[in-house]
Amino acid sequence: MEKKSAVLSEQRPLTVEKSKVGERIDTSLESIRLIFSFVALSAFWLVFGTLVGEYVGFKFVWPELDSVSWLSFGRLRPVHTNVLFWGFLSQAMIALALYVVPRTSQRELYSYRLGWTSLGLMNISVLFGVISLMMGINNGGQEYREIIWPIFALFAGGLILVAYNLYKTIADRKVTEIYISNWYILAACLWTIILVSIAYLPGYQKDGISQTVIQGYYMHQGVGQWFTPMVLGLTYYFLPKLLNKPIYSYSLGVLAFWTQMIFYTMIGSHHFVFSPIPWWIQTVAIVFSVGMIVPVTAGTGNFLLTMKGSWRSFARSYSLPFILVGVIFYAIVSYQGTLEAFRSLNKVWHFTNFTIAHSHMSMYGFVAFLIWGGIYGLIPRLTGSEPPQLAVGAHFWLALIGILVYSIPLMIGGTLQGLSWIAGESFMESVNLMTPYWVWRAIGGTMMFLSHLIFAYNVWKMRPSTWEKLTQVSQS
Ligand code: HEM
Ligand code: HEM
Repeated sequence: MEKKSAVLSEQRPLTVEKSKVGERIDTSLESIRLIFSFVALSAFWLVFGTLVGEYVGFKFVWPELDSVSWLSFGRLRPVHTNVLFWGFLSQAMIALALYVVPRTSQRELYSYRLGWTSLGLMNISVLFGVISLMMGINNGGQEYREIIWPIFALFAGGLILVAYNLYKTIADRKVTEIYISNWYILAACLWTIILVSIAYLPGYQKDGISQTVIQGYYMHQGVGQWFTPMVLGLTYYFLPKLLNKPIYSYSLGVLAFWTQMIFYTMIGSHHFVFSPIPWWIQTVAIVFSVGMIVPVTAGTGNFLLTMKGSWRSFARSYSLPFILVGVIFYAIVSYQGTLEAFRSLNKVWHFTNFTIAHSHMSMYGFVAFLIWGGIYGLIPRLTGSEPPQLAVGAHFWLALIGILVYSIPLMIGGTLQGLSWIAGESFMESVNLMTPYWVWRAIGGTMMFLSHLIFAYNVWKMRPSTWEKLTQVSQS
């Protein structure tokens, strides 16, 4: 069979008037069920995870809120981060990848049975992870890998199945080229399997220093080689598709891909500047953090140049504004991260709430917004059920204003916190000066949480109204 170009061969623009979708994508019923189930469960974990974040955030303002061990800060913080990483963001990205990879390969997903098994393994892992963390059973103070290995192995198993499923789909593609999205998506899956193995394998992380180096590697590779390439890969599909025009430059995408792979692998130790790990390792991490300017500028430049001249589509679409915000945050947080890595600035910001602002601007402003853009762009066209426009608008504005109200005060407060420590003032002084900023965090966090309730409502509204109706549509 003659091989066609992947994405551009599809004459099915997703751009629509805000008022109505008016268009359906003829994907198999099996595919819609699997994708929607991933999205629905990810929405559930988003609400649960941010409810926990909200509660933890309130504890900064009212530390005496409770005295129940299961609800203590130390136990709930990893519940918040792990649920959002593995329950919400990861599963939402996988949902979209389960559409993008078969679509750009122009064939069905290799195996739906494997897809359902992945869904089951991942959700059981997150559920057991939450219970064990709340019981106080954890992997020690090792961020984002606090869940003990027998439970996290279930998640890793699910991820391996996803990677295999996607790989087989791409390998059997009916088009010549492997579309750039699939480079990113497959690389992200493979990197993360390696990363999780390195993070959990015993034997070589016994002493404090080697464990710290591995922790830095794991922590930043987690965000940089899983969330970042996955969500960028998805955006390389959804942005041109929603605008109904090709990506500005394919070569720029390839440049961003390879420089991301080269520079990101070396920057983990920038989490431990001024720590006892060898000075030269820290310096390498700082130099490569500067190198990150190349893939970030190439990637965001490529997206922005693709958007150029199509601003009217943004006004009409309710998914594109999410993508625009996500791309802008990607640029901002990455340049911000490069600044944070410099010794002169790390001296001020390390250990302070500035880092909490950076992590939320990145995981939320960048990753979550791009995911939401993809979900609102795709799901109504799969299920034929549209979310209320007003509710999508409320989600967008509450989330956007919420993250700004959350992070700007934390950046200001974090800087003052660091300067206070440098000035040798007492620790309590810095706690007192942070109080108003933590109130703002609680306000911003509440807005974000409300927006997630609305998102969950929208997912409910986007559900296939009945499976029977879906069957009819998929046959028509
Ligand atoms: C690409 C350029 C980036 C650079 C150079 C960078 C740099 C940094 C640095 C230096 C820190 C540590 C701050 C400290 O503890 O003193 C940090 C923390 C963090 N970054 Fe980035 N960052 C970048 C992009 C991103 C992106 C795109 C994400 C998310 C997808 C992200 C997520 C995080 C998170 C979650 C933390 C907190 C880690 C922790 O728990 O300590 N960063 N970043
Ligand atoms: C999708 C949404 C969210 C994601 C992905 C997310 C992610 C994270 C991450 C990565 C951290 C660790 C930060 C670090 O160590 O640098 C964290 C901590 C935290 N998050 Fe969130 N978060 C989200 C929403 C929220 C919301 C809505 C709130 C509400 C206030 C919140 C409150 C907190 C608090 C209080 C901490 C602990 C900060 C500390 O240790 O000082 N988060 N979150």
